[in-house]
Order: sequence, then structure tokens, then C-alpha cells
Amino acid sequence: MAKYAKYIIEGGKRLSGDIDIHGAKNSVLPVLAASLLAGRCTLHNCPDLSDVAAACNILRHLGCTLERENDNISVSASDLTSCTIPESLMREMRSSVLFLGAVVARCGRAKVSMPGGCELGPRPIDLHLSSLEKLGVTIEEEYGYLNCIVRDRLRGATISLPFPSVGATENIMLAACTAEGETVIHNPAREPEIIDLVNFLQKAGAKINVGENGTIYIQGVKSLRPLEHTIIPDRIEAATYLCCAAITGGKVLLRGAAPGHLTAVFPVLDEAGCAIRAAGGTIELSAPERPRALRMVRTMPYPGFPTDAQSPMMALSCIADGTSLFVENIFENRYKHAGELARLGARINIEGRVAMVEGVKKLHGGGLVCTDLRGGAALCVAALAAQGLSEISQISHIERGYQDFDKNLRSLGAVIRKV
Ligand code: EPZ
Repeated sequence: MAKYAKYIIEGGKRLSGDIDIHGAKNSVLPVLAASLLAGRCTLHNCPDLSDVAAACNILRHLGCTLERENDNISVSASDLTSCTIPESLMREMRSSVLFLGAVVARCGRAKVSMPGGCELGPRPIDLHLSSLEKLGVTIEEEYGYLNCIVRDRLRGATISLPFPSVGATENIMLAACTAEGETVIHNPAREPEIIDLVNFLQKAGAKINVGENGTIYIQGVKSLRPLEHTIIPDRIEAATYLCCAAITGGKVLLRGAAPGHLTAVFPVLDEAGCAIRAAGGTIELSAPERPRALRMVRTMPYPGFPTDAQSPMMALSCIADGTSLFVENIFENRYKHAGELARLGARINIEGRVAMVEGVKKLHGGGLVCTDLRGGAALCVAALAAQGLSEISQISHIERGYQDFDKNLRSLGAVIRKV
């Protein structure tokens, strides 16, 4: 992917047609980390994304052999040759911290460089580290590296997360599966990607289950075994394409989706005036000429409205016939796309966690720079409805999380070129 590639979008085309949704990026990444514990595994429905390639590079660096054939990835992790993840690989992808728990569980130690912050704010990993310490890991930081050592062996513990962190929940699960005794995780994340990881681990022989109030119970076992697994559909990719269709007054059918994972997104699109029909693995949306304003969209941990869908939904609200309110409760700094949207004529006021969007009748094209993955997608959503040409640069952000983004949009009738 050329670093300096750009999208050129000519807005104003009504999108219609159908596309296939890919496997979830935020499920395949922790599952790839978990593959370190299973010896050998074959994964199906894996999206072809730079973040997935980065995770595969980390596995190779640790000594795994991987084969990729279309959307199937097979991993052999029988003999690891390293338990260090170098800075170059850690910087490539912030979620590399997910490998910490699995490497420690497998090797009894791990050396990883502090994951770079990211464009969404500091994104500390304090909950990851304090949880691993409760499981018996000693962690020292030196020269930007974390040296993790299990002096004796990993022992189960009861851990209450002050915030249902997705990554911390995943790291605890991966470290606890082969620890001695029981681990209980109170207030864990409950995203579909967490459940997908639970299902993967159960198939690999882990004794892990989720109580009715979401609490996760794990009985350590000696080791995990080979398995096959199909990754769940990407709910954020689906939400993004629904916003693309909605902002152009179009009609789209998504295949290979999981409507059940979008129960907090559908009511917002409904409030915007879209008609949505979900049946089995398909989602159909038909949009009004102009979207209605959104009274209040508050991002929350699952099953609340997903923070990753906040920016595409904000883009949609830019041309609504009224004022919409957003409250970003998950990340410190997840409104960087607002400044770029303003360059298309959007009227957005940010006050701390609150963004107020005064809908305008029309946006005009302009030059835009992607600030982060979902923010970059939001710029494309807005450009699809803007009058005239928009040029969007730094699209490597987008291609971290959306496979064939421009190709899919073209198949829906968008005029978009990658240059
Ligand atoms: C996962 O990130 C996703 N990434 C994110 O998707 C998603 O936005 C996020 O969960 C919330 O749903 C992957 O799954 C690879 P968190 P993660 O730990 O695990 C704070 C995308 O666009 N926090 O739930 O990093 C943190 O700063 C990406 O696909 C701590 O303070 O999310 C943030 O404000 C973006 N200390 C909040 O919790 C910690 O130790 C949510 O973080 C950990 C997190």
C-alpha cells in the first residue's frame, strides 16, 4: 500500500447495490494472538488488512509459520524462537499489546516495547498491566520496553475491571487459560469480538465461560489444542457502509453481516429516517432524501452505541435537517475528524466530550487528511455526499480496517479512485 495514496471522490451519487461484509478486524487480531496457545489453528473469514498483516508479522517474528490463502489463515505455533516483540512491530499496530498475555502464558516471559499512543489519545495500558500482575507476572519498564517475567507460574485471580476494557479483557483471558486455578473477570468487556475469542478458546479446550451478568469464569488447563475457527462479521465495517448509503439517500444490501451485533446502531439510523430490514445474515437499508437530525448519540461499551461508529455517524449528521448531539464517552480524543469535515462546510462545535453538529443542506468538496482509521472512513462518508471533488490523503489509516474500500464503494455506484 503506497504510503502516499489518495482517494479522489466525486460526491453526489446515490449509492445502491449489495456488498459482502468481511470478517471482523477486532476479532481476528486477538484470535491471532490466541493462536500462540493453540499450537496449530486454521482461521476462516479473515479480512485482508494491513493490521492483520502486522499481527501475522509479529507471529512470524516469534517463530510461528503462517500460510494465507484468500480469507483463510493457518498458524503453526508449535515451537517459538523468541518472546520479544520489537519496537518496529509494536509501533506498526497499537493493538500489538494484545500479544502480551499470550506470549507470557506460552513462554513464561515477554519483552514488548511500550505500544505507541495512537491518534485517539494516550490509550494507556494500565489495566492490562495491573491485571497481568494479579495473575503473577512481574513487569518492569526500562528504555521504553516492558520486561515481563513469571517468577513461579501464572495463577488464577479474581479481577474487577474499573472500566470494561476490550484489550485488557482479552489479555487477561489469554494469560488465564493455562494459569493454575480459577480466574474470574468482573465487569469485562462484552463486545461480540470478546465472545468470538471465548468461542475460539473453548474450541481449543480452554475451560472458559460467560455468566449471565457478563462475568467471565476461567479454569486453567494444562494446554490448548489445535482447532478451526470462522471469524465473526465486522459490525463496524457494516455500520460504515450503512452510513455511506444513508448520506447519499441510497439503498444498500449487506451480505454476510451479523445484524444482532448492530442493535445499538439501527435505532440511530432509524432516527435519521432510514428504513432497515435485517434477515439472517443480511441488512438492507433504504435512506430518505435527506437524513433527519440525531437527538443524542452517546458512545458506550457494548451493547451501547459503538465508539468506532461515532465518526461515520457524525459525517451522516452533517447534512441532516437539524442539530445533532454526540457524546464520546470511550476515548479522550476521538473528534479529530471534525476539523476535516468542517473543510467540506460542516458546522461542528466540540466542547470536551460533546460534539454539536448543525446540519447543512449541502457539503462541498475539498482536500482532506485522514487522522485515524474510523475518522478517515468518516471523511469518505461525507465526501460521497459533497458537491464536487474531494481528495482524501493518508488513506493508509483507512486501509488498516477496511478491505477493498474503494472497490466496494465503486460497486455501489460511487465515483471514487485511488491514486
Ligand atoms: C478496542 O480497543 C478496539 N481495538 C477499538 O477499535 C475500539 O474502539 C475499542 O476496543 C472500544 O470498543 C481492537 O479491538 C484492536 P479499550 P482497546 O481497552 O482494547 C481506556 C478501531 O477503530 N483504557 O476498551 O484499546 C482507553 O484509553 C479500534 O477498530 C485505559 O485507560 O479499547 C480508552 O479510553 C479503535 N487503560 C478506553 O479505555 C487500559 O489499560 C477504551 O479502551 C486500557 C484502556
